[in-house]
Amino acid sequence: MANKPLYKSIPDPNLERKRTVSFSFNYDEVIVSDRLKKFAKGKTYFIHTYGCQANYRDEENMAGLLELAGYNKASEINNADLIILNTCAVRENAEDKVFGQIGNLKIIKKQRPETIIALCGCMVQQKHIIDFVIDKFKHVDLIFGTHNISSLLSLLDEVIAKHVRLVDVKSLPEDIKENLPSKRISNFKAFVNISYGCDKFCTYCIVPYTRGKERSRKMEDILEECRALKDANYQEVTLLGQNVNAYGKDFNDGTSFAHLLDEVAKLGIPRVRFLTSHPWDFSSEMIDVIAKHDNIMKYIHLPVQSGSDEVLKAMNRRYTSSSYKALVDLIRKKIPDVAISTDIIVGFPNETYEQFLETIDMVNYVKYDSAFTFIYSPRKNTPAALIKDNVTAKEKSERFKELVKALEVSVGKSSEDMIGKTFTVLVEGPSEKDPSILSGYTEKYKLVHFKGDDSLIGKIVKVKIKESHVYSLLGELVND
Ligand code: 5AD
Ligand code: SF4
Repeated sequence: MANKPLYKSIPDPNLERKRTVSFSFNYDEVIVSDRLKKFAKGKTYFIHTYGCQANYRDEENMAGLLELAGYNKASEINNADLIILNTCAVRENAEDKVFGQIGNLKIIKKQRPETIIALCGCMVQQKHIIDFVIDKFKHVDLIFGTHNISSLLSLLDEVIAKHVRLVDVKSLPEDIKENLPSKRISNFKAFVNISYGCDKFCTYCIVPYTRGKERSRKMEDILEECRALKDANYQEVTLLGQNVNAYGKDFNDGTSFAHLLDEVAKLGIPRVRFLTSHPWDFSSEMIDVIAKHDNIMKYIHLPVQSGSDEVLKAMNRRYTSSSYKALVDLIRKKIPDVAISTDIIVGFPNETYEQFLETIDMVNYVKYDSAFTFIYSPRKNTPAALIKDNVTAKEKSERFKELVKALEVSVGKSSEDMIGKTFTVLVEGPSEKDPSILSGYTEKYKLVHFKGDDSLIGKIVKVKIKESHVYSLLGELVND
């Protein structure tokens, strides 16, 4: 490829912040150029995805598009003709991993210069990252953003035709594309987007910039996708949105997540999940729908982020520790056996030790069944990144360890309480550490390992729990 890049568009954080964008729904079929069809014949692709479920769903659409053009999936990254790194920007360590991998790809490009290397995802929605990559990693041929995944094939066509390094990263979302081809990663569990983007603007978070304005898909399109998954015998569907509770509010016609969830549950898919819920607009109607349907998993991921009212205010989280506790109480009253998990950030700028202890109080109050914990990572162009921070890295890491210890009490207890009881497990595949052991998740999202035959993969089976290892459990298959 020629070294001088062709810039079709580059992102601007001031535009990314804008919420005035209007969009429509696009049902057009994807067209593949003859040149690309000819080029892709006999070639392979490899997509390496980092980050959240939204990125994995994007990978499925990219794979669908590439296979439509004639590419086949490569068995490994080293022998692929097209390599796409689908990146995450939520914390600095996620970006560091990607930089490491781009560095590794230099060798492949040297050995096989005809390999096309592309970058996409949240990381490249930031201009400073694009500048850095273009300057330092001359072997990257194509950079495209989260808003123009549907243009992947025409971008590839342009790279091939013009022999040029191409950058096309839009600041604003385009139409919601409904008819994108998709090659699902799993044939028994699926993610279904219900909305894109986020309008919450938590002060630490990059997502509202990288994923844009909150846009809901039409209910009939979501239900059609779920119905097709049910017909294809999928065992689990997870409805995805940065904040699922806000689903439908942009239609201004009374459409709500509670209604959508009710309709999806009625389709009869064995397991229905949803991710992620913001505590601010979690309605009582939603709790009633979750309680009503046996096939809606009694597992709610409810990120608290902090237990301190001052920190929550500085994070722009729109709830207080007492309103969060009241929500947890209401959920537990209406769904007594519910499992609750959370996300927590320690070391937000200028967090005092006392404020941190309020987070520990919250952990002790809610008694979470599982949790994801993070040390605050400044993200360029977010409001929190401008705050001068007086908490040292050492203090942050000590608080992190203290938090993990506090969480182990309730997570450990909820796992120990399972010993001797039998649970249904959706079998995912061989365990990462030991291929003779299968792994899967219970309804309440506890990871269980047990001995069993590969033929059980993708099935819901019964497992009796024998041992707890806090974040995972060991069990025995129950035959009945
Ligand atoms: N630093 C640390 N953690 C973050 N998260 C989001 N942004 C940041 C950041 N800048 C965490 C939040 C969110 C989860 C997906 O990632 O806890 O819920
Ligand atoms: Fe980020 Fe907050 Fe939106 Fe979640 S709700 S994606 S933490 S801005």
